[in-house]
Amino acid sequence: MKRVTAPDIRNRKGGAPIVALTAYHAHTARIIDPYVDMLLVGDSLGMVMHGYETTVPVPLELMIMHAQAVVRGSTRALVVVDMPFGSYEESPAIAFRNAARVLKETGCGAIKLEGGVHMAETIGYLSARGIPVMSHIGMTPQAINTIGSFAPRGRLRSEWAEFEADAKAVAESGAFAVVLEALAELLAVRITKQIAIPTIGIGASAECDGQILVLEDMLGLSPRVPKFVKEYAQIGAGIEGAVKAFAS
Ligand code: KIV
Repeated sequence: MKRVTAPDIRNRKGGAPIVALTAYHAHTARIIDPYVDMLLVGDSLGMVMHGYETTVPVPLELMIMHAQAVVRGSTRALVVVDMPFGSYEESPAIAFRNAARVLKETGCGAIKLEGGVHMAETIGYLSARGIPVMSHIGMTPQAINTIGSFAPRGRLRSEWAEFEADAKAVAESGAFAVVLEALAELLAVRITKQIAIPTIGIGASAECDGQILVLEDMLGLSPRVPKFVKEYAQIGAGIEGAVKAFAS
């Protein structure tokens, strides 16, 4: 079966909403693959699967191992892999070396990196050399030590110009899509209208070109679930009930 490609996603701007979920392992990837356009191997796996407090400690090797599992478990959706903190910021050449390793060793179709204006040069460098890039702006968890909290961004109109400049910079530098995380709703709507690539919202606006959620959050399986997430199932409670029944 032909996989969805980064250009397919790029061409969905203003069209049918793009559906994306995170996936960290083969069996969940297999279950959700028929229903989504993109499977993101997010570095949130460090917090959700490995118990880290933030995504900062996540190593490249861990991303590669989870991405290999997700590629093995899926046949249809575009698999996008997060570049972890420290693997791409230093220079475009280092970003290329690490991103090429991710593509070659996992078979994924694209990478994601955090950052707007200051990452535009790197996005252009990678895109021009065969590496499709999805950008991620707004609340960028890898910057937790400089932004100070996971709180929503762009609540003040005076902050909007900065985020609009980020969105324009990543779109113009060649990103095929951009994640808008925890951005004020009206700002996310404005950005979606202003740029030529799809916006993928998470806690931003229903009017983005697509939506993404962390799978474990929407399944009721995460220890900490952001306020904006609708829990479509209670898998955590289900596991506890099953284990209690087994143990009794
Ligand atoms: O790491 C991740 O799961 C992400 C999504 C929240 C967009 O970046």
